[in-house]
Amino acid sequence: MSTPLRLGIAGLGTVGVGVVRIVQRHAALLETRTGRRVTISAVSARTRDKDRGVRLGDYAWEDDPVALAVRDDVDVFVELMGGSDGPAKAATEAAIRAGKHVVTANKAMLAIHGQELAEAAENKGVSLRFEAAVAGGIPVIKALTEGLAGNEISRVMGVMNGTCNYILTRMQDAGLDYQTVFAEADALGYLEADPTLDVGGIDAGHKLAILAAIAFGTRVDFSGLHIEGIERITIEDIEQAADMGYRIKLLGVAQKTGRGLEARMTPCLVPDTSPLGQLKGGTNMVVLEGDSVDQIVLRGPGAGEGPTASAVMADVLDIARGNTVSVFGIPADQLAAPEPAAASAPAAFYVRMSLIDKPGVLAKIATVLGDAGVSIDRMRQYGHTDPHAPVLIVTHKTARDALDRAIEAMEGTGVLASHPVAIRIEDV
Ligand code: NDP
Ligand code: HSE
Repeated sequence: MSTPLRLGIAGLGTVGVGVVRIVQRHAALLETRTGRRVTISAVSARTRDKDRGVRLGDYAWEDDPVALAVRDDVDVFVELMGGSDGPAKAATEAAIRAGKHVVTANKAMLAIHGQELAEAAENKGVSLRFEAAVAGGIPVIKALTEGLAGNEISRVMGVMNGTCNYILTRMQDAGLDYQTVFAEADALGYLEADPTLDVGGIDAGHKLAILAAIAFGTRVDFSGLHIEGIERITIEDIEQAADMGYRIKLLGVAQKTGRGLEARMTPCLVPDTSPLGQLKGGTNMVVLEGDSVDQIVLRGPGAGEGPTASAVMADVLDIARGNTVSVFGIPADQLAAPEPAAASAPAAFYVRMSLIDKPGVLAKIATVLGDAGVSIDRMRQYGHTDPHAPVLIVTHKTARDALDRAIEAMEGTGVLASHPVAIRIEDV
């Protein structure tokens, strides 16, 4: 009879409890699928006597996750505490040193320390797996490292933070402003303990950095990402974008250009009829493009107990089956140094302005844009009761720095009532 695969789980919050539930509920199914029993030897969390709504009495308890990670009766250390450093990193390193496989959902740790952890795991001959770290229940890591392994990947793109997508779609559907919907999301428990991780685009940036490393065979380069959050998006932006046939999404894009790897997580306009434009609520969507497959679209729950635990278990079962794959798809010591593109590829932009309503104002704006080499595709002025005219311009494709030059020059014309907002329109 084959030996069981014994888990040590550090972190019994949303995801950890979900993993315990699957191991308990599907014991027979997991054994049938892998030919091995999957068992839990020990668990760890901060507070021992908390009621977590799940049976834990059969498992040993460790106060210290590092002690849990190196126990003799643990084959796989399952890290579900979170945080890029601290106990999560210390315990992961200890597990690898002790020759244990590691499964984690911790995108922050992988985005910052992925390279050194991958090298350590591969040198030790153990697995380090993280399906749950990107887009929750969507099996996007497996899709890239295995399903699309025969492709040269040209672009990965997606909506990877459910909280931001919830906020943006709720603003759109209910006509509510950002602050109101942010407060709603907070009350619903959607926001990370530090909400900047969500609305500042950092959490989604961590995920994009991981995907880009796998897609393009480069070391994880979170610091090379261009990140903007959704905090400055107003209900006016959402309504005026809709009026022009677009939706606003916090969209991650990583693509090869002739000038290096362009990777950005920023609010973008996408056509309202596109799959990304139609994406509602907390759902995630990842689009992968390869030379042979063309384009595939993966859509599903990006967070929550069940979906995230489902992804953790997929990694556990791969280890039980003996399936191995390099941490980032190719051996960590062969990952190339990232070459971030100095500037993003040209795109059309949406520019929202509030102008002082007097003769010759639009002519000044058009002149400034023309002088910077930015061509206007569409322009619309909305009715207004106050002295400031809301004006919306959609440009033809232009370099972002040309548009930034134009916006800087607009400031000197004396016709702006407030700083213009420029949002990229993405080809999807
Ligand atoms: P929670 O905050 O719900 O749970 C964290 C758990 O870790 C708690 O049980 C906590 O203990 C425990 N913990 C924290 N610090 C320590 C420590 N020093 N020693 C021992 N235990 C500790 O987090 P989630 O379950 O939501 O997230 C876990 C991981 O999964 C994170 O990396 C997160 O980014 C990732 N993730 C989460 C998703 C989600 O939908 N929630 C989706 C995708 C990824 P205690 O309960 O006693 O306080
Ligand atoms: N805060 C994240 C989100 C959780 O909203 O998508 C899942 O990583």
